[in-house]
Amino acid sequence: MSILETRDIHHDFHGLAVLFGIDLAVTEGERRAIIGPNGAGKTTLFNMITGKYIPKKGSVLLDGRDVTKRPVFWRARHGLARSFQITNIFPRQTVFESLRAAVLSKRSIRLNLYRPVTGMTSVNEEVEGLLERIGLQEQRSVQGGLLAYGQQRALEIGLTLALDPRVILLDEPTAGMSSEETRYMVDLVKRLTEGMTLIIIEHDMEVVFGLADTITVLHYGEVLASGPKDEIQQDAKVKEAYLGEGD
Ligand SMILES: Nc1ncnc2c1ncn2[C@@H]1O[C@H](COP(=O)(O)OP(=O)(O)OP(=O)(O)O)[C@@H](O)[C@H]1O
Ligand SMILES: [Mg+2]
Repeated sequence: MSILETRDIHHDFHGLAVLFGIDLAVTEGERRAIIGPNGAGKTTLFNMITGKYIPKKGSVLLDGRDVTKRPVFWRARHGLARSFQITNIFPRQTVFESLRAAVLSKRSIRLNLYRPVTGMTSVNEEVEGLLERIGLQEQRSVQGGLLAYGQQRALEIGLTLALDPRVILLDEPTAGMSSEETRYMVDLVKRLTEGMTLIIIEHDMEVVFGLADTITVLHYGEVLASGPKDEIQQDAKVKEAYLGEGD
């Protein structure tokens, strides 16, 4: 069963149609890239998945459950994380404090939903584990705003991971980065999200091929092609419409 699915999603803005029946099915652990020209509807599709906008027609399923009308926070509680822009770091909080706040917010959510679990690791232990995973043990007392660029990215990922997401959505995570920063980011995301379901919108094909196994190509609000990345790379329609290599 798919962990995330969209069925026949249609959307328009003030009568101007931008999505024309998008079917997407992502399995658990899959690494999917969504590519397509500017204005193809990629971000709009993400907004339907996260609940920022409700589609005019069609449905969104999370773990087989229809969540089309569920609000953003409900979906986030159920494991859908939109990173990393949304989890902006707090410039005046230290790395430790930021991660601790994220762990606590997750726990308050979980405690509301389930009965408290005995033997749960302490909040501090969990924060220590996160610090180790993102490699910021030595920066634990540094304020977020004073971290080096790559360390800020690592902290943002840490804040997302603190919520134990099941599906991570990234919209152009390397936009505006230098090629060196991009490479760093790809390595970091790859390492820190191993085994998780990842859906990434990206223009940079190096990032796409570095992070994704499967690709969906959106074109004027429709799915032009979808499949394993090698197949998509060879797809004549895709080459012509998007990669600009029509033969
Ligand atoms: N809130 C909005 N109100 C009106 N029109 C919108 C809105 N959001 C997006 N659009 C329009 O919908 C279309 C799809 O936009 P969208 O942002 O989803 O494209 P995209 O594939 O993410 O493009 P890019 O690669 O440039 O980020 C565009 O024509 C855009 O102008
Ligand atoms: Mg976009």
